[in-house]
Amino acid sequence: MSRLVVISNRLADPRKPAAGGLAVALGEALNQTGGLWFGWSGTVVEDGTPGEGELHTRQAGAVTLATVDLCREDHDSYYHGYSNSVLWPVFHYRLDLADFNASYIAGYRRVNQMFARKLLPLLRDDDVIWVHDYHLIPLAAELRAMGCKQRIGFFLHIPMPPPLIMAAIPQHEWLMRSLFAYDLVGLQSEADVSHFTRYVRNEGSAEEVDEKRVRAFGATVVVQSFPIGIDVDEFTRLTHAPDAVETYENMRDEYSRRRLLLGIDRLDYSKGIPQRVRAFRELLDRYPENRDSATLIMIASPTRDDVNAYADLRQELEGLCGAVNGDYGELDWMPVRYIHRMVARKRVPGLCRAAAVGLVTPLRDGMNLVAKEYVVAQDPDDPGVLVLSRFAGAAEQLKEALLVNPYDTQGMADSIQQALQMPLVERQARHQKLMARIREHDVHWWRKAFLDALQAAG
Ligand code: G6P
Repeated sequence: MSRLVVISNRLADPRKPAAGGLAVALGEALNQTGGLWFGWSGTVVEDGTPGEGELHTRQAGAVTLATVDLCREDHDSYYHGYSNSVLWPVFHYRLDLADFNASYIAGYRRVNQMFARKLLPLLRDDDVIWVHDYHLIPLAAELRAMGCKQRIGFFLHIPMPPPLIMAAIPQHEWLMRSLFAYDLVGLQSEADVSHFTRYVRNEGSAEEVDEKRVRAFGATVVVQSFPIGIDVDEFTRLTHAPDAVETYENMRDEYSRRRLLLGIDRLDYSKGIPQRVRAFRELLDRYPENRDSATLIMIASPTRDDVNAYADLRQELEGLCGAVNGDYGELDWMPVRYIHRMVARKRVPGLCRAAAVGLVTPLRDGMNLVAKEYVVAQDPDDPGVLVLSRFAGAAEQLKEALLVNPYDTQGMADSIQQALQMPLVERQARHQKLMARIREHDVHWWRKAFLDALQAAG
């Protein structure tokens, strides 16, 4: 069996459960073959030289973790700049938030070139290489230019935008052409695959060789959707572990007279958090029976604080939550509980289980695993209702959720009311169908489907 090499911007020690489902699932695959995981060390060297970073290697069980430091200039232009101020907003359809600063692209290329240079000597001839996410789109092209012949697959965890939005990026053609250096490009949803094929048809004069194979820019690549899943068994185990049970019982006792609504996100503008607060306000306004009862808990963990758009969002959200609490709150009831901190992963399933409604309402999202976690944490005999944005990749699979348009404040308030009023039999029936789908396409299915397709590609 070939050795697996995983490359991603961030790494996690796959032996630590706090690493989360994806890291653990990749770790499992790496463990099977004795693999290598390569990426950024998380260290920024203040006075380092651009394009140069020290390589560190350490062993985590059967997996070698190889990481590279970034100097301040590279980190700011590659990570904050091109990755998170160009690719992230544009791929989430937020052209208004993109900062097309011309200096970013040089840092993005420089870091991808450096990663390729540092990785190359660590590779073996029969390795299979799996590159993750938007930080590393040109990595295969850089590796190929240095003579790398191994099979290389790419998985994009975020959405692929429609062609005309993609075309706003000055280097859009170069980016899309870079994807043709891979043997396999994996995307989250069928919508993403259709955006990709439409782009290459319009801009790259692509021919579809067969159902999955596209030829453009003088090369052929296999493009398929692989909707990412969660580790259902592990999350179920976590749900029944003491920490989660304690959290569930505390919440249940504390809110015994009330109905809980829950949102858990990174504080990112793609997550539609202000829109959710507006819809909740509308709910209290239009359906007064929810006053002094419905309580929205919003956990929005800090992220990418150095990018301006994130600081603006934080201010907006604090204002909105304060206004709802000021206008509707009672001495013994605050409608919104907003927490701008990380919550321990082991407590998450307990919180989910205590919530009558799970609100996953992004403006755009590649998949959104919180939606799947919320469903898995429910008591099948008395499950809560998932209210899910139609713009989350998960909406393609989770049809039995209440699908909403987060831009439609009234419509979303109506759906939340429907969720709060839903009869038990309907909640059970929807939950059962959602569970079956989430279980069928769990993270192990995702990993195997991708690696099998990579093995077959080329
Ligand atoms: C998204 C991206 C990941 C990224 C994560 C956290 O899920 O797809 O690649 O690691 O956000 O963002 P951060 O910038 O902290 O790595």
